[in-house]
Amino acid sequence: MTLPPLKGLGYSRRLCQLGLLVLLLFGTRTWAQLGIVLPAPLAPIELQSTAKIELGHRLFFDRRLSGDGTMSCAVCHLPDQAFADGRDISGAYPTTKHWRNTPTLLNAAYLKTFFWDGRSDSLAHQAAEPIETPFEMNSNLPYIVAKLAEIPEYREAFEKAYSAEISKELILSALAAFEQTLTSLDSPFERYLKGEPQLLSRQARQGMEIFFGPRGGCSQCHAGAMLSDEQFHNLGVAERSDLQEDWQQRATRRFVLAEKGLPMLPRDPGRYGVSKEPSDMGSFRTPPLHQVAQTAPYMHNGSMNTLKDVVAFFSRGGGHDAQKSRQLKSPDFSPEEQAALVAFLESLSGTVPEVHRPHLPGD
Ligand code: HEC
Ligand code: HEC
Repeated sequence: MTLPPLKGLGYSRRLCQLGLLVLLLFGTRTWAQLGIVLPAPLAPIELQSTAKIELGHRLFFDRRLSGDGTMSCAVCHLPDQAFADGRDISGAYPTTKHWRNTPTLLNAAYLKTFFWDGRSDSLAHQAAEPIETPFEMNSNLPYIVAKLAEIPEYREAFEKAYSAEISKELILSALAAFEQTLTSLDSPFERYLKGEPQLLSRQARQGMEIFFGPRGGCSQCHAGAMLSDEQFHNLGVAERSDLQEDWQQRATRRFVLAEKGLPMLPRDPGRYGVSKEPSDMGSFRTPPLHQVAQTAPYMHNGSMNTLKDVVAFFSRGGGHDAQKSRQLKSPDFSPEEQAALVAFLESLSGTVPEVHRPHLPGD
């Protein structure tokens, strides 16, 4: 028995084919078709030996690395604050004041340029500075070497990790080995890049299109896997008058500038303090944006409290400065676009590794 032909099948098949074509053309347009190049996901870092990491973990928490025994790396880079400190301006060595915001250490191991002004090029080189800076840990590395050499547990730990005696270089190298473990690679955005689209909300995807596309232009600077070109730009972030007036903060600025052979300046010079190129005045390294939702307040001087504030700032085309970057336009984002950008920035947060204060010699 043959079935009678179904009425209208030819018509609906054609409709189906048309629907498929429309879907192919518009519904499944890839980022490449939209002219958007997404970065590659972060590749896991090859870690150093457990003995080195454990030693670095202890040193990171050990207040004996500071002049008066009150400061350690973990006092300003707190594990429960995504390895930043939640403050606008960093805490400082007792009796002094800091002048800049504390960046997160999460995924810092992927960077090549460290600090807001890019004055360091490796984790190990970087670590010497907080230890010896008068307004951070105010100690002295040769003295720390002597101090740790008097503690048998440290002598053994260096022997086990490096088969060598304690030295300045090995202290810095162990700190770097520990910092390499502070990564977060499972944010919805990272997982999206690895091919798991379901975790990224529609709103975050809309924000991503603005961020990487011509509408937002954010990835002109927030480029690559770290969402930073590691270059320096002047956005016209306003100076804070309270920092200009506080004598201790002024003393910190005067000291940092004098160390570079520069006279006292009425502002944070940013990259100019390192390069002494007039065109770098007021320029700061593009901050990486992983985990950014957990590291408020924002900017080198902590002058913006929320991601909403930051997005509104970019919507206006940044601040006012004679040397402001020409890459900043005034996109005047709609409230919906601003919310989408914030949702995208929030999708850059993954699991923060659980780190606790380890057992320290003398506990
Ligand atoms: C008193 C607070 C304080 C202490 C203590 C401190 N830091 Fe920091 N850290 C900061 C601030 C503030 C900055 C940014 C300073 C700048 O850019 O000029 C920073 C920057 C960094 C950076 C660069 C991150 C980036 O994105 O460029 C690393 C890495 C770092 N610190 C590691 C350490 C280590 C390791 C120790 C311990 C040896 C330490 N810090 C101790 C406050 C502190
Ligand atoms: C011209 C380069 C450039 C462009 C374009 C740009 N940024 Fe930035 N961004 C920076 C720099 C540089 C800073 C730090 C400025 C400072 O502290 O003075 C920054 C800071 C930020 C911060 C604060 C991060 C922190 O840890 O304090 C966020 C969030 C951010 N940008 C998001 C965006 C978004 C969203 C866009 C697009 C709408 C964008 N940026 C466009 C260079 C840029």
